[in-house]
Amino acid sequence: MSQNGIRKLLLDNPVVPVVKIQSLEEVEPLITALQNNNINCIEITLRTDCAVEAIKLAKKCCNDNFSVGVGTVVNTKQLAEVVDAEVDFIVLPGLQKDLVSALQDIDIPFLPGVVTPSEMMEALRLGWDTLKFFPANIAGGFGALKTYGQVFSQIKFCPTGGITKENYPEYLDLENVISVGGSWIQKDLNI
Ligand code: 3PG
Repeated sequence: MSQNGIRKLLLDNPVVPVVKIQSLEEVEPLITALQNNNINCIEITLRTDCAVEAIKLAKKCCNDNFSVGVGTVVNTKQLAEVVDAEVDFIVLPGLQKDLVSALQDIDIPFLPGVVTPSEMMEALRLGWDTLKFFPANIAGGFGALKTYGQVFSQIKFCPTGGITKENYPEYLDLENVISVGGSWIQKDLNI
């Protein structure tokens, strides 16, 4: 299955909260609040020292139908760490040679990031057709995705970066957008 089933995971989760955990104490209340709001996934970014521990804790305190993902994976050492933590999905801001071969050896759903047509062509060459579009607002946002839909109709995107409570429904209305990600969700829940 292409990218180990990431497309289905995103179709099941049209809104992905992207979070930065500063302290492990934040984890349980956050997972509970998301579940209470019928949001059944989280992307914990590797931007703080406690991120991997936070992923392990999130996996312990969530329901069975909740997916704990990791974001901001930029090297193979981090990839190995999150595979050990039995993360449910992996998000990368871009494509990179060493990571490309390491991703081919794992069986966890993964979502690589792209911005340009050349990166999209490279992803398709690898057989990857479900991609993160990041940073969406800087890379042309809504208009760019619409244009890419005409050129690369087989690609489905999850845009992140600058997605807001106000504009996310417009993104989800695009035929080639199956899910959106962002930090606004956590802020909106006031946790
Ligand atoms: C990401 O990692 O996908 C983005 O940093 C989230 O961007 P946002 O804070 O603009 O939602």
